[in-house]
Amino acid sequence: MSRGERVTVVEVGPRDGLQNEKGFVPTEVKVAFVEALADAGLGVVETTAFVSPRAIPQLADSAEVFSRVRKRAGVRYPVLVPNEKGLARALAVGAREISLFTAATDTFNLRNTNATIEESFARFAPVLVRAKADGLRVRGYVSTFFGCPYEGRVDPAKAAAVAVRLYDVGCEEVSLGDTIGVAVPSQVADVVERVREAGVPIGQIALHMHDTRGTALANVVEGLRERIRVFDSSAGGLGGCPYAPGAAGNLATEDLLYLLHGMGFETGVDLARVAAATRALAESTGRAPVSRVFAALNSASARAAAGPAR
Ligand code: HMG
Ligand code: MG
Repeated sequence: MSRGERVTVVEVGPRDGLQNEKGFVPTEVKVAFVEALADAGLGVVETTAFVSPRAIPQLADSAEVFSRVRKRAGVRYPVLVPNEKGLARALAVGAREISLFTAATDTFNLRNTNATIEESFARFAPVLVRAKADGLRVRGYVSTFFGCPYEGRVDPAKAAAVAVRLYDVGCEEVSLGDTIGVAVPSQVADVVERVREAGVPIGQIALHMHDTRGTALANVVEGLRERIRVFDSSAGGLGGCPYAPGAAGNLATEDLLYLLHGMGFETGVDLARVAAATRALAESTGRAPVSRVFAALNSASARAAAGPAR
């Protein structure tokens, strides 16, 4: 691992985070959140999801959110798309990058999308044809990669095969999702090796860690050792998946940035500005962020505001 090397942080808070909020976050608050994250230097901000509003009412305003966000040059704004209808809705508002999602286990995929893994690839086929014809960039997620809330342990060979299949059908990047936050570093090393050996270049693999059991950062360090350079996270540690009981938020962007910058990696992201975006959102939702680095920054600034310690 060399100092100054670039790492891409994929911010998923506006999608993975807000899909899991209990209340409906007002459209203008979502728009301001996405804009603040891009202004903080995040080069990829997963903005929303064009899924069924019955499945995810929290993101029912996705078209309006996407349309209203002031796009910064050089920033990518991917959106989650489950099927052709989702793609049509995304294209109608000018999305240029989509994320498809399936899982390593049928039970989870059925609960999440009403489709088996096999059926989800059948749904993706026409989506990929149209997306490629329109020149869109396509990412693919594999949920329950490290463990499933319904099936328990996941066969790493089976999970790796789903990742390779996504790559083979045309996803430029495959994100390995620890949906319920059960992974440990030795598992990360094992699966990354498998996915790489099966033909996905290391530069095309991303890690998507939820931090349910506090192992997300340890898994990132293992990913870095394996030469992964793309990591997903959510500002303030927002998130979870409504179809994964017990799933906590994503690894917090502030915590990831603190680690990466401290280890000498470059991200181009201003940590303090991400924390400011988190604070503004928290003021609207009334929910305290779970990021430890966010908490540390706030207590440091509170101490500074209170004057010298006596
Ligand atoms: P379905 O019921 O099988 O779909 O749902 P359908 O094709 O039979 O259609 C049923 C109704 O939904 C129809 O409406 C469609 O028009 C409508 P009706 O005629 O009954 O009024 N519909 C849509 N509406 C808007 N946008 C669409 C759309 N598609 C159909 N795209 C479906 C299948 C996939 C749509 C549904 O199950 C769904 O939307 N699921 C999404 C679940 C979801 O968003 N989960 C969270 C994201 S995944 C995640 O968080 C994991 C990740 O972070 C990685 C990790 O952590 O592991 C990515
Ligand atoms: Mg997730």
